[in-house]
Amino acid sequence: MRETAVGILGTGKYVPERRLTNKDLEQMVETNDEWIVTRTGIRERRIAEPAQASSDLAYEASVRALAAAGLTADQLDLIIVATITPDMFFPSTACLLQDRLGAKQAAAFDLSAACSGFIYGLATAASFVKTGMYRRILVVGAETLSRITDYTDRNTCILFGDGAGAVVVGEVPEGRGFRSFVLGADGSGGELLRICGGGSRLPATEQSVADKKHFLEMNGRDVFKFAVRVMGSAAEEALDKAGLAKADIDLLVPHQANIRIVQAALERLGLSEDKAMVNLDRYGNVSAASIPIALAEAVEEGRAKTGDTLLLVGFGGGLTWGASALVL
Ligand code: UT7
Repeated sequence: MRETAVGILGTGKYVPERRLTNKDLEQMVETNDEWIVTRTGIRERRIAEPAQASSDLAYEASVRALAAAGLTADQLDLIIVATITPDMFFPSTACLLQDRLGAKQAAAFDLSAACSGFIYGLATAASFVKTGMYRRILVVGAETLSRITDYTDRNTCILFGDGAGAVVVGEVPEGRGFRSFVLGADGSGGELLRICGGGSRLPATEQSVADKKHFLEMNGRDVFKFAVRVMGSAAEEALDKAGLAKADIDLLVPHQANIRIVQAALERLGLSEDKAMVNLDRYGNVSAASIPIALAEAVEEGRAKTGDTLLLVGFGGGLTWGASALVL
């Protein structure tokens, strides 16, 4: 029996209008444009309007992905939203999005794997389509990280932005589609990157708010070391599993955390800078939305075309990581 080829049918992205530049941050914390650019590569990020929550950004990206796929929302069987900034604990952001899109036939759930969430979502969607359980699945990465960022902490506030990216996953012609997935986790490193307040361990209290327990906290240096190690190993493993060589990659679409992490991955893979899609200079780190925004932008700009071999790779809180080799 012929195996179903499963791949990406359409991509879309949405970023809010408002820009937060390095110059703006100079007015807020003890930092400067030169430090931020040389240490991270980031120049500006987008910030959602007060009335915009993650599902609103997800909606805009999803409408574009559906249009690109030539599908309507009622043709979707499942919606997966990867996010660490859901609109609320529950209902899930995926359910809010399902309603807003009018995707009446679709089941819906959120997926929590921090910055690796989009790749976890793709792997989940591809598996559902392979088994025949569902045919068309919307996978979204959507974040309003500005809501969990402490704008008095220069170690973190320079990094993060808001936005959403979406893809529709379904059957594609033979020769195209996902070639491999690699997913990983190391929960022993959970303390390196987290929000510890607001859950069942430390419910919200006046004290937890005063102690800033509802903001993202991070050990940047240790996350950096982990990222450099895992981006290279996950990327190589995904290529091996797919039976592809490094030279087969047309475009690397990495998690957009820090240009130095991307450069380390390129070096490990022996690829030149032009082989990586980089937009972190304009959007910063958008967690689960970073990879789908970069992918949608690569398609918009003609840098990723039908038939191209792409390698997606990311890492994040959990700790988690993920990679996928695919033919677009
Ligand atoms: O999606 C996953 C999320 N997280 C990440 O990917 C983060 C990974 N880590 C990183 O990208 C980097 O570790 C950072 C960009 C966060 C920090 O860069 P670094 O080169 O690792 O800097 P550092 O933490 O080692 O700090 C170097 C110096 C320190 O001063 P001292 O102790 O040497 O005097 C910091 O206090 O830079 C100082 N510093 C800053 N200076 C100006 C830290 N943040 C700033 C800042 N502006 N914003």
